[in-house]
Amino acid sequence: MIVGVRGADGAETHAQVSFHRQVRPILQANCQGCHQPAKAKGGYVLTDFEKLLSPGESGTPPVVSGRAAESFLLKQITPEDGKAEMPKGQPPLHELEIELVKRWIAEGAKDDTPPNTGLAYDTSTKGRVLTPPPPS
Ligand code: HEC
Repeated sequence: MIVGVRGADGAETHAQVSFHRQVRPILQANCQGCHQPAKAKGGYVLTDFEKLLSPGESGTPPVVSGRAAESFLLKQITPEDGKAEMPKGQPPLHELEIELVKRWIAEGAKDDTPPNTGLAYDTSTKGRVLTPPPPS
């Protein structure tokens, strides 16, 4: 991966958006209260990567890999006249958060969660990765 290198056209080439480090914490903080297995509003669950890609009651695919403009989830969080459908009943996400979700979908909506995430990850820290205990 190339980070912060200028491309031939002079534009800065950014690192890809990370689902694990950047997108998941946004969803966790703003969406999972209403979209989890125990309480799946609209029949939609965001806590599991496979389910995140599966439609809820609307039947509309929430994430179309590589096509942000066709992704229902992105439409739901994009404000019109200062109001967005999701998060329901709350102010819209910050525009930088929406931009991250948009870029993540445009870049292919990949799951880059490390395999040992169950051990190192603690949801109570809202996306910060904890250092695993040293081997005894
Ligand atoms: C306070 C509860 C609440 C929160 C928070 C919330 N949602 Fe929802 N969501 C709902 C409800 C209820 C529905 C069902 C449709 C409706 O009533 O608008 C829904 C429906 C959806 C759907 C459509 C599912 C389908 O296919 O029918 C998507 C996508 C969605 N939410 C994404 C999100 C995202 C992304 C966030 C966080 C940015 C979020 N929601 C936060 C309550 C919530």
